Amino acid sequence: MSDTTTPLLALSDYAIRFSTPDGTVKAVNGLDLSVGRGETVAVVGESGSGKSQTFNGVFGLLAGNAETAGEARFEGRDLLKLSPRELDAVRGADMAMVFQDPMTALNPAMKIKHQLSETLKVHKGLKRREAEAQALAMLKKVGIPEAERRIEQYPHQLSGGMRQRVVIAMALLCRPKLIVADEPTTALDVTIQAQILDLFRDLTSDAGTALVLITHDLGVVAGVADKVVVMYAGRIVEEAPVEALFTRPAMPYTAALIRSIPRVDRDAEAVEPIGGRPPDLIHPPAGCPFHPRCRFAEDACRRERPPLAEIEPGRRAACWFPFVDATSATAHGTPSPEALDG
Ligand SMILES: Nc1ncnc2c1ncn2[C@@H]1O[C@H](COP(=O)(O)OP(=O)(O)OP(=O)(O)O)[C@@H](O)[C@H]1O
Ligand SMILES: [Mg+2]
Repeated sequence: MSDTTTPLLALSDYAIRFSTPDGTVKAVNGLDLSVGRGETVAVVGESGSGKSQTFNGVFGLLAGNAETAGEARFEGRDLLKLSPRELDAVRGADMAMVFQDPMTALNPAMKIKHQLSETLKVHKGLKRREAEAQALAMLKKVGIPEAERRIEQYPHQLSGGMRQRVVIAMALLCRPKLIVADEPTTALDVTIQAQILDLFRDLTSDAGTALVLITHDLGVVAGVADKVVVMYAGRIVEEAPVEALFTRPAMPYTAALIRSIPRVDRDAEAVEPIGGRPPDLIHPPAGCPFHPRCRFAEDACRRERPPLAEIEPGRRAACWFPFVDATSATAHGTPSPEALDG
């Protein structure tokens, strides 16, 4: 199916539960999310909000104690219903995942040349010589200097940043339609981080590849993403174009996340960590899952969970009082009395 109306990836009423001796962990809860062809979507949220498991489930990489529900359609086909072999075929050729630690994707005992060309031989049926030529070209594309020499080396002979470039090259080689990158730059130092994110942006936009960028660091998404999805307690609590999200966050949790970003143009004391503790996913709070930590919470928030609703064209939020915190998010400080009354 290659019509343009079907999103590339569409999760609907998608859920993941983990059985544990302490009870059932409700890690992902009724998610509705779509990724269009060529679109870059950032998925952000604190540790434990369900970012990784959401996409591990899409790739069939969940732990043995997991159970999924709902649908995860890739080009219309529900991935949750595919056999392991069918899923394997989709995974190799049409969608690829890049993880935080490049060594999880690299075989330490194999030269770069062989790791890269192997993928092409397996998934595209290329002969060795052609596969190696394409591998070398891709290494150059991802900005590896002296690629002819590097391709003959083993992973341990490369720096962390170089290794992540190799992994990105590997992900791009089969020209997938979707790349999911889970904290791809978290292990790298700040300057390398920026280079790798630029590389992702340039290469995916050149190739028309959709990119899901998972990060707990809202600070890195501004120059990269089209759309931002904010997760809390395994739910989407806000979704907006990147610019709108930063200038006018609708949900107090998003505003709190923005205030927690260290910024060069702001004093260190303007950075406010989010108060309170992340929710217990075995016994999630009633009502809005963020209400115990929200300074604007009212009775309605404690009683009933707000649905993820369209609040403006192209924007969704799960909040009974959207935009209440919008101004204080960027200006920093105590909210105005009008905002508190709202
Ligand atoms: N196998 C498992 N058994 C029980 N609970 C699990 C299992 N795997 C993950 N979880 C729980 O699922 C929840 C969501 O985890 P997830 O890895 O998606 O978080 P995340 O948003 O990616 O966080 P981080 O930013 O730390 O990577 C967490 O509370 C986690 O403890
Ligand atoms: Mg994670």
